[in-house]
Order: sequence, then structure tokens, then C-alpha cells
Amino acid sequence: MGSKKITIVGAGNVGATAAHWAAEKEIGDVVLVDIVDGVPQGKALDLSETGPVEGFDTRVIGTNGYEETADSDVVIITSGFPRQPGMSREDLLEKNKEVVRSVTTEVAKRSPHCAIIMVTNPLDTMVYLAKTVSGFPKNRVMGMAGILDTARLRTFIAMELDVSVEDIQALILGGHGDDMVPIPRYCTVAGVPITQLMTKEKIDQIVERTRKGGGEIVSLLKRGSAFYAPSASAVQMAEAILKNKKRVLPCAAYLEGEYGLNDIYFGVPVKLGSDGVEAVIEVELTDEERAAVKKSAEGVEKSIAELKL
Ligand code: NAI
Ligand code: 2OP
Repeated sequence: MGSKKITIVGAGNVGATAAHWAAEKEIGDVVLVDIVDGVPQGKALDLSETGPVEGFDTRVIGTNGYEETADSDVVIITSGFPRQPGMSREDLLEKNKEVVRSVTTEVAKRSPHCAIIMVTNPLDTMVYLAKTVSGFPKNRVMGMAGILDTARLRTFIAMELDVSVEDIQALILGGHGDDMVPIPRYCTVAGVPITQLMTKEKIDQIVERTRKGGGEIVSLLKRGSAFYAPSASAVQMAEAILKNKKRVLPCAAYLEGEYGLNDIYFGVPVKLGSDGVEAVIEVELTDEERAAVKKSAEGVEKSIAELKL
């Protein structure tokens, strides 16, 4: 069996860093695509030259076209514009929809059996667009947001309790926006809910910081948005699919009735394996949590409607 192939479209901050994580993990050949002449080629070559130092043999190719992407197993789409200070993710919709439409068309034509992992914002809307444009079944088109958002929450919990991030699990539902729905009852430290370990005030503070976690990085960087944690999160999804790991991870998945929602991409826990999203996992919610999920869904539905598909 030959190597698996991962295409990463967009060789900017998220895309190039995703190529870095993927190359180090040796989960398949990496093809990096961008419209800017020389940049994907230069970054791919530089990354290849890291191999002798870091000890990986991953083949990394950079290109401005799509021939080299043919028969990819997984395609991560990061092409498009990032947020600048003062912008919401929704402000990116008009500019990024044309990028995502054209990139998805090219990718789907050459890799009809791949799984698409969307990263471009506004995430839930762009992944909906990619499903429509590709015509792929729902299990093979998904969005990355929940792993990043829960990673932020896990980091803040670890900082507060002074324990290892490795022992922390967290659950967030909903769209990748400030209305996302962290569920503290289901956030644990080695199985113990954080509701037994922290005051409500502290949990509320951490939840609020998580909701605005993307904005916090944008205001620090001043130019562009987060990329280390986002790219690592996208590669974790790719790895779960390529290795058929059946990981249970929060991702933006297409819902048809789950959580009382229909025809929407929404952040929920899913099982990720070689068939992509192999199952959506439903958890029990309180009335208050359900109301927060509904509010988040209304925001995503409004954004999807703006695509005017
Ligand atoms: P960036 O500006 O560093 O990179 C974007 C790259 O896309 C640029 O190199 C640009 O040349 C390329 N590009 C633009 N149009 C293209 C096209 N038609 N074909 C191929 N390449 C094209 O931006 P960054 O920081 O990498 O972010 C990328 C996207 O990911 C943004 O929309 C950002 O909001 C989103 N994002 C989403 C996250 C999530 O949780 N879902 C987290 C972090 C970023
Ligand atoms: C983030 O949450 C920009 O959506 C991106 O950092």
C-alpha cells in the first residue's frame, strides 16, 4: 500500500503550520497549495529540509495548481482571509465564500473520495458551502472548530487548577462563534467534573474567556488570527481519519435531526474514522443548555442563509 496523501489548501499561517504538524507525524505525503507563486513551493522545500534534523521522511510538495493533489485521502482547506482586530468571523463571509467555492470545486474534481476538513471562517457556513459544492456525502465533509475551542477551555482549566492539560476533557457544542456552548458539567479532570473543583464564578470566567478565545489572540497578534492550535487541531482530525482511530472529538458535522437540528453544520461530538464522521454523539442537556444550543444554532442558520445557495 502506498502512502496516504493529505492536501492542505492555503499555505498561510494555519495551512503551513498544519503541513509542519502533519510532516512531523508522518501520516502521509503532504501537498501544500496556495495561489501565491513560490510561497507553497518555498515552504514545502523548507519543511522537507527539516526532515534530516527532526527525523521524518514525509514527502512535502508545494504547488499553485491541483494536479499534484489528485487522489488525496484528506483535504484540509485553510485558504481565505483571517480576522483582523475588530472583525467578527461573520465579517469574512463574502470574501471567503468565493475562495471556498473555487477551491472545493478543484479539490472535489481530483479527489472524489477524499474527506474534506474545513478550517476557513466563518467555519460552520464555509463547511456547509463545501458540502453543497462538492456534492460529497455528509460523513466526508466536516469542519474544525470544537477541538480548538475545547483545547482553549482545557488550557484555561489546567492553568486555574495547576494540573496537567492531559488529564482534562471538555465538551463544547455549537457554532464556532461567541455563542458557542461550553458545558461545564461534562468538563472533567481525570473524570471529576470541574463543577466539583471550581466555584461557579471561576467557571463562568473561564467559559467567557473560551468563547472569546479567538478574539483574544487576534487582539494580541494585531495582524491575523491564531494558527498553532487551529492547525494542530485540523491535523488531529486528519490523523484520526487516516489511521481509522475512531476518535471521539468535537467537530462541525452535518445534522439531520440530532440535537433537534436539521440541515445545518454544528459543533457536536463525533466519531472520526476512515469513513470520516462515522457517528454523531448526542448527550443529554438541561433546559438551559438546550436554550443556549438553540441560540447558537440560530446564528449559524442566519449565516448559512447569507450564502443564498
Ligand atoms: P493566512 O492569511 O495566513 O493564510 C491564508 C492563505 O490562503 C494565504 O496564503 C492566501 O494566499 C491563501 N489563499 C487565498 N485565496 C486562495 C485561493 N483561492 N486558493 C488557494 N489559496 C488561497 O490566514 P490563516 O491565519 O492561515 O487563516 C486561514 C483561514 O482559517 C481564515 O479564514 C481564518 O479565519 C480561518 N481560521 C479558522 C479557525 C477555526 O477554528 N476554524 C482557526 C484559525 C483560522
Ligand atoms: C479562532 O478561533 C480565528 O476562528 C479562529 O482563533
